[in-house]
Amino acid sequence: MVKHKMRGSDFLSLKPLDGSELEDLVEEALRLKSEGSKGVRSLSGRSVGLLFEKHSTRTRVSFEVAVNRLGGQVVVLSSGDTQLGRGETIEDTGRVLSRYLDGLVVRTFGQDRLEVLAEACDIPVINALTDQCHPCQALADMLTILEYKGSPRGVRLAYVGDGNNVCHSLMRAGTKLGMEVTVSTPEGREPLQEIVEECVENTGIYSGTLAVGHDPPAGVTDADVVYTDTWSSMGQENRDEDALAASFGRFQVNEELLAHASDDVMVMHCLPAHRGQEITDEVLDGNRSAVWDQAENRLHAQIALLEMIFG
Ligand code: CP
Ligand code: NVA
Repeated sequence: MVKHKMRGSDFLSLKPLDGSELEDLVEEALRLKSEGSKGVRSLSGRSVGLLFEKHSTRTRVSFEVAVNRLGGQVVVLSSGDTQLGRGETIEDTGRVLSRYLDGLVVRTFGQDRLEVLAEACDIPVINALTDQCHPCQALADMLTILEYKGSPRGVRLAYVGDGNNVCHSLMRAGTKLGMEVTVSTPEGREPLQEIVEECVENTGIYSGTLAVGHDPPAGVTDADVVYTDTWSSMGQENRDEDALAASFGRFQVNEELLAHASDDVMVMHCLPAHRGQEITDEVLDGNRSAVWDQAENRLHAQIALLEMIFG
């Protein structure tokens, strides 16, 4: 098992990891997936809280199963059924949970809220999605690309859609692993400038590339991977459907768009998908879609992550 510098640390984003640490983690996930994680009991006798302030299927279930596989106990919490829902501060909640738990997996709104919580906690805190980033998703994404393409280096990864949390973590991961990343979004929906700048710096260090634009056919030209996500993330549910379709319509991942990509392109989506919006049924259910393997890989990537932090 890799001795990782993040042992005992928080995992709030991919920013602090360097490329080789990220690569070690993804390779370890691949090894644990192929060899099995039986006998790895790094959470034996330990308890991990799952605190979710937003909906989840994949993240919640895959973390619950991962903690169980590693011999630990899970405590599932939501703001609605804790005193958080009645106004107890996130700091006070963190201080108290640290007295019972050995780790806390958190899905919340602002990255600042997660950081305040992590600061108040004496135990490792793992980001299970914020408005800003979704680093556990990107671990599974890199594992999936490694499985399908053999090596991440030089892979042409094209993200099409909203410059959101999933896009931010994908850009960070791709540029740390030496990929050629393009991001195509509608005007006004670009990824955060500070994260773009950070990722441009990564390309200088890890020999990748990054181009951010507004032209999906150009963005996906010769792509090995085409990736999309919802046009409207959790917390933005009130966005007008017609306005969304008007600004995002050209950004749908469909057969016509994929005709610009490489012949053996793989299609990725973090799920849940909004069929007929950001992706067509034909593409999601087609033979180039990797989405079910990608969803499965959440489990394997998180087993490796938990091993890294608690092993
Ligand atoms: N991809 C993802 O995070 O899915 P859930 O919202 O179901 O956890
Ligand atoms: N961007 C989406 C991802 C869901 C897994 C959201 O934040 O709702």
